[in-house]
Amino acid sequence: MKEKMDSLLKEIEEKIGKTNDLKSLNELKVSYLGKKGPISELSNHIKDLSNEEKKEFGKNLNNLKTSAQNLFNELQLKLETDILNKQLENEKIDITLPSTKILNGAPNILEKLVEEVEEFMISLGYDVVDGPEIEEDKYNFEMLNIPKGHPARDAQDTFYIEGEEILLRSQTSPVQVRTMLQNKGEKPIRMICPGKTYRRDDDDATHTHQFTQIEGLLVDKDISLSDLKGTIDLIVKKLFGENVESRFRPSYYQFTEPSVEVDISCFNCGKKGCNICKHTGWITVAGAGIVHPNVLKMGGYDPSIWSGFAFGFGAERMAMLKYGINDARVFYNNDLRASKYFDRKDED
Ligand code: DAH
Repeated sequence: MKEKMDSLLKEIEEKIGKTNDLKSLNELKVSYLGKKGPISELSNHIKDLSNEEKKEFGKNLNNLKTSAQNLFNELQLKLETDILNKQLENEKIDITLPSTKILNGAPNILEKLVEEVEEFMISLGYDVVDGPEIEEDKYNFEMLNIPKGHPARDAQDTFYIEGEEILLRSQTSPVQVRTMLQNKGEKPIRMICPGKTYRRDDDDATHTHQFTQIEGLLVDKDISLSDLKGTIDLIVKKLFGENVESRFRPSYYQFTEPSVEVDISCFNCGKKGCNICKHTGWITVAGAGIVHPNVLKMGGYDPSIWSGFAFGFGAERMAMLKYGINDARVFYNNDLRASKYFDRKDED
């Protein structure tokens, strides 16, 4: 009996040696280890044996089963591994290939500049106020002391929505009037109202038909030009650095009297003269002045009690200076080739 078992194992071994796919292997396994296979058949002989022989026979039969089982398992594992390896080989990923570059978004540079000013002004106790971009002639011009037919309107020609009365605001100054009216001539005002403005300009390196102003208004009692000077000086130092100085030059605006142009000392050359300051040592960044009594009056504030100052910065101009940009159109064209340089500038 033992010889029979040995030869059976040999037979299995030989057949397994010739098998090279899982399906045939499974069929072979069933044919030998299945209920009707030769190994099960052998166990039928057990009843003809003596007790002593039964023991020996049982042990040998078990060994045969285990050995055969092992042979099948071994080949099964090998075939499965081969299949897996082949699959991995076919689906190979080359991890040394460079990855796809995902562009990170960055805050809009004008927005960033406006937010910087907003945060600073809030720290000085100012409110940030919004006004409509579609504005009435009344607020955009008339109540700012620019009546119909005034020559100052020529420089602020804009886009008209309905007749000549409803237009895209050409400046953020109308928000001054709206804020005064809201406060009914009773309360002091400290606000900035940054926002989009529009003019019928042909776009070039320094003009865009849409641009951004950062306007401020303070109304209180006994306000003088020195209050304005101190405030402006703080703002420009915050934006352009502690070493930057500010100066006022006389100017003319219809809604302020006196009116000034605000220059800052050139942060690039320290007043020595360079391309940025056009060799003058100074750069103009804002218009400002003491609020005209007519404007206070039209806004509901009694000029014999109240006084105030106002200022307006051009955001594009400041961003161009701060980030070394020489064409204002890049703010609005969304050309990544141009904007990627200044969008990343602060993170460099
Ligand atoms: N609104 C003016 C402009 O667009 C800028 C300006 C000048 C605003 C003087 C002011 C100011 O508030 O006081 O040219």
